[in-house]
Amino acid sequence: PGDLRELSQKLRIHMGSAVDVTALAGEADYRAVLNREFTHITAENAMKWESVEPQRGVYTWDDADAIVRNAQRNRQNVRGHTLLWHNQLPAWLTEGVADGSIDAKELRKILREHILTEVGRYRGKVRAWDVVNEVVDDDGAMRQSIWLTKLGPGYIADAFRWAHQADPHAKLYINDYNLEWNTAKIDTTLGIVKDLKAKRVPIHGIGFQGHLGIQYDYPGDFPSVMRTFTDLGLEAAITEADVRMVLPVTPEKLATQADYYTRMLSTCAGNPRCVEFTVWGYTDRHSWVPGFFDGEGAACILDENLAAKPAYRALLGVR
Ligand code: XIL
Repeated sequence: PGDLRELSQKLRIHMGSAVDVTALAGEADYRAVLNREFTHITAENAMKWESVEPQRGVYTWDDADAIVRNAQRNRQNVRGHTLLWHNQLPAWLTEGVADGSIDAKELRKILREHILTEVGRYRGKVRAWDVVNEVVDDDGAMRQSIWLTKLGPGYIADAFRWAHQADPHAKLYINDYNLEWNTAKIDTTLGIVKDLKAKRVPIHGIGFQGHLGIQYDYPGDFPSVMRTFTDLGLEAAITEADVRMVLPVTPEKLATQADYYTRMLSTCAGNPRCVEFTVWGYTDRHSWVPGFFDGEGAACILDENLAAKPAYRALLGVR
C-alpha cells in the first residue's frame, strides 16, 4: 500500500486520526494530509462537553459541525468523543455540583439531556460513540467522579441506554487508557461489560486508547486482552494511539516507536472484530504529548513538517 487509505482497504480496518479543529481550519497542508490519508476521524476536543455547552443551555456546535462536515466531504467515518468523562466538563456543571445548586436528581436530568442532544444532533453521522471514557481507575476501582458520587454506578447503564435511544444505529463504546495491560483495570472493565450485557444494555464496543511510551516495555499481552473482550461479542477499536518518547529524538528511539506502532496495528489486524485504528493526532506539529508529559514528545507518525517518520512507513507494511 502507498498510503494509509490503501492500507485501510487492504486490512479492512478503518485508519483514523484525532482532528485539531484550529489546524483543520487554518492549515492547508494539515487538512490535505488528513483528508488524503485517513478514513476515520475523531474530534480531539470539539465534541467534549465543555466545548459544546460552555454555558448552561448555550450550545456551540460550530467546531464539531465543521469536523463532521469535513469528514463527510472526504468519505471519513466519525468516532464521537466523548459523552461522559470526568475531564473537560464545563465550569457551570462542576461548580454547580460542588456548591450544591445542582443536586443528584437534576444532575441525572442534565446528563440525559446532554446525551440525547449531542447524539441526536449527529444521528446517522457518527459511526461509533465513546459513551463513557475512563470510568475505571488504575487500581481497578470505579473512578471517583461527580457521576459515581452523585448518581451511583447505574449512571453507566443509563448513559448507554440514552445514547442508543438517540441513535439506534451507532456503535456504543466504553473507552479507556492502560487497558492494553493493566490487569486490575481490565478485570473491572470486563465486569462492567458483562453486567451491562446481562442487563441487555446496548453496549457494542471496547476502545483501547493506546497511549504508549517507548521508555516502558511494550504491553505484550495486548492481543489476548483484546480477545478477552471481543469473545464477549464486542467489536474493538484502538482509539487514541500514540507512542511518546523522552526527548531528544534518536534514530534508535524512532525505530522502537515504529515497532510499537506496528505491534498495535497488528493486534487490531489479527483480531477479526477489531475495526478501527485511530492515532491521537497524526503529526508532531499538533500533539497533546509535550503539554502533558514533561520532557516527552515526538509521539506521532509524521514529524512537525508532515514528513513520514519510520513509524508511518512501518505501518504500511503491516499485514
Ligand atoms: C486530550 C487532548 O488531546 C488535549 O488537547 C486536551 O487538552 C486534553 O485532552 N484521553 C482522552 C482524550 O480520552 O480526550 C485526551 O485528549 C487524551 C487522553
